[in-house]
Amino acid sequence: MEALPEAINGRARVALKNVPDVIVHDIYSPLGAKLYDAIALQDAHELREMIAIARETTGPILELACGAGRFTLALLALGRQVTAVDLSPSMLGILSDRLDSSHAHLRVNLTMIEGDICDFDAGRRFNTVIFGCVTVSLLDSTARGRLFRHMGSVLSADGRFFLSTTVAEGDTDLATPGAPIENLQQVLDSAGTAYRLHEYIAADRSIRAITLIPEVITPGAPVDVFTTAVRVLPPDQLMTELQANELEVIRTHPVKTPGAAHEIVILEVGHPA
Ligand SMILES: C[S@@+](CC[C@H](N)C(=O)[O-])C[C@H]1O[C@@H](n2cnc3c(N)ncnc32)[C@H](O)[C@@H]1O
Repeated sequence: MEALPEAINGRARVALKNVPDVIVHDIYSPLGAKLYDAIALQDAHELREMIAIARETTGPILELACGAGRFTLALLALGRQVTAVDLSPSMLGILSDRLDSSHAHLRVNLTMIEGDICDFDAGRRFNTVIFGCVTVSLLDSTARGRLFRHMGSVLSADGRFFLSTTVAEGDTDLATPGAPIENLQQVLDSAGTAYRLHEYIAADRSIRAITLIPEVITPGAPVDVFTTAVRVLPPDQLMTELQANELEVIRTHPVKTPGAAHEIVILEVGHPA
């Protein structure tokens, strides 16, 4: 049995301690993407706010880290041209299949790019860039620096870059360092199979390690486990990083999150006047 990755912590680690064959997948891998998509489809928060923001803009939209297209399909349904970028062929594959099966008429307005949001070739500038679902939190500081520099050249002179992040202030789990915190939640895949989603918040509150484990573990059988790590990047920190790359936060848009979810805000970013 291989050692469990260090990022699997707390009760998730205990649950897997005696399982002889644990297969760890990134949540955006081929198997993980299907599970991520099933969970994301049950979650409409932020989608509402991002689409309302997009409605107030005109022209083609660049969507960063589009995943399986939760926001993309809604943007296309507004009649907008969308360029959607993601690193994961599995996530883009789900978007493509979804278009083929029920939204083929929307494909004409979509350009999909499989690539890194920090350095893809957009081939043009955009007036509106959307980067939702707190995905900035998947990037380390070097990648964020590359992304913000890249956005400096991709965003048109009076364009707007909308990115969402977590608000730590006032969040009882995230605001103050202390003992690690664990939160558990049950989620279902598209077949109705139950998974336990473990959120392990590090003592310094800098990162939330997410591990998904099947609720029912069959003794002796291999167990597929899915992981991702979400940094806690408060708006003030991102404002400073954006400023260092000659971008500034023009205003913020609150996001209505359900009870136990962490608070989110959308930063509206542009070139300094
Ligand atoms: C939290 S999901 C969000 C997906 C989608 N926007 C949604 O709301 O469901 C994060 C996505 O970011 C993508 N991603 C992570 N790092 C990336 C990078 N450096 N370049 C492009 N995509 C990236 C992953 O493949 C994944 O699809």
